[in-house]
Amino acid sequence: MENNIKLNLDYSKISNHEIMTYSEKVKKIHKDLNNKVDDKKYFTGWINWPEEYDKKEFEKIKKIANKVKKDSDVLIVIGIGGSYLGARAVIESLKYVTNKENSVEIIYVGNNLSANYINEIIDYVSDKEISINVISKSGKTTEPAIAFRIFRNLMENKYGIDGARKRIFVTTTKRKGALYKIAVQEKYVKLYIPENIGGRYSVLTSVGLLPMAVAGINIEDIMSGAKFAQEKYSDDNLKYNDCYKYAVARNILYERDKTIEIMGTYEPNLFYLIEWWKQLYGESEGKNYSGIFPSGAIYTTDLHSLGQYVQEGRRNIFETILNIKNTDSDIIINYDEENLDELNYIAGKTITYVKNKAMLGTIQAHVDGDVPNIIIDIDKINEFTIGHLLYFFEKACAMSGNLLGINPFDQPGVEKYKENMFNLLGKYE
Ligand code: PA5
Repeated sequence: MENNIKLNLDYSKISNHEIMTYSEKVKKIHKDLNNKVDDKKYFTGWINWPEEYDKKEFEKIKKIANKVKKDSDVLIVIGIGGSYLGARAVIESLKYVTNKENSVEIIYVGNNLSANYINEIIDYVSDKEISINVISKSGKTTEPAIAFRIFRNLMENKYGIDGARKRIFVTTTKRKGALYKIAVQEKYVKLYIPENIGGRYSVLTSVGLLPMAVAGINIEDIMSGAKFAQEKYSDDNLKYNDCYKYAVARNILYERDKTIEIMGTYEPNLFYLIEWWKQLYGESEGKNYSGIFPSGAIYTTDLHSLGQYVQEGRRNIFETILNIKNTDSDIIINYDEENLDELNYIAGKTITYVKNKAMLGTIQAHVDGDVPNIIIDIDKINEFTIGHLLYFFEKACAMSGNLLGINPFDQPGVEKYKENMFNLLGKYE
């Protein structure tokens, strides 16, 4: 099957029996999550979202995307954390499959406070036709708010107030926050983030879907993949639920003092998918001075930097490897008469063949060095499998956080730096 995703625990050093000891706990959490689906205060709206998503809003997203594709060279996506990482993860992951002719370049701002970064983008877009999608659930986050002020000004200077109005699209919570107020006053087109879906679980809402659609991604297929996953992982029987097995496996490893999880892959374009995963798991689980620290690696690149530590450093690491089984293209290594580089022994083989051997060799070395490996086998990267994978990780995160005994849907710690920053900036003087 071309679209399959399968969990492989063969290298995890965990027995099936151990996994199954969590059966009853998992059943209870599953029931509890389902009971909370319709209660807004629990932020569990994402659970049934692939089936119940707002179809009218979805059509509006496609219409906006078509307009932007017609009149813009670039879409500037303004947002931070859960308000941009999901879109970027999907867009970058699919960059080799997206039809370039049907695609507009996406540029991300409002995710840092670097003047150099912002100035570089101002320069880059100066001779381009631009649209903006500003995304903020709370409508009051400092980084995107500053970027929006700067780029709104730039747009109004470039296109005039009326012209800019037709090119600015606001994604925020209905009737709440400063961004909503600005959008109403300036009559910008608005898309809404459901109140019961938290930022880091919002990739399949308008937050992620508009940038994806503008980038030429088939968002119907993304939602189909997610819907497939919603059905597949709705089984409360741990034996048949890979998503819950992943959650249980990481908790068993955590109990064995494996406090760091490295999400690794051999496909560099999945870098932002790992960034998205890091945010999802870091913000969801790092609470009460506990939780697994989520980290990432792109192999084989990082075998030449982190490899030494993974192999022989502190033994508190486990890895989860995203194994993409089929790639869209390949290269055959050519034969060389002189063979000075001594590579003729692999002449005629493909890069993917060599990569697969490197991966197997690495997994074996790491497991032998007491770094358990969980493998997620993915047939191929396409819209359907990405939609599937996003939902897989969201559902697993909800289960895993609950197994750890924390609330995976809040993020109280993020407020601490903001308060200090506001005080230092004199916001309350
Ligand atoms: O997951 C979260 O809730 C956070 O990472 C937010 O997405 C991030 O802080 C941005 O918040 P907002 O969308 O309100 O600007």
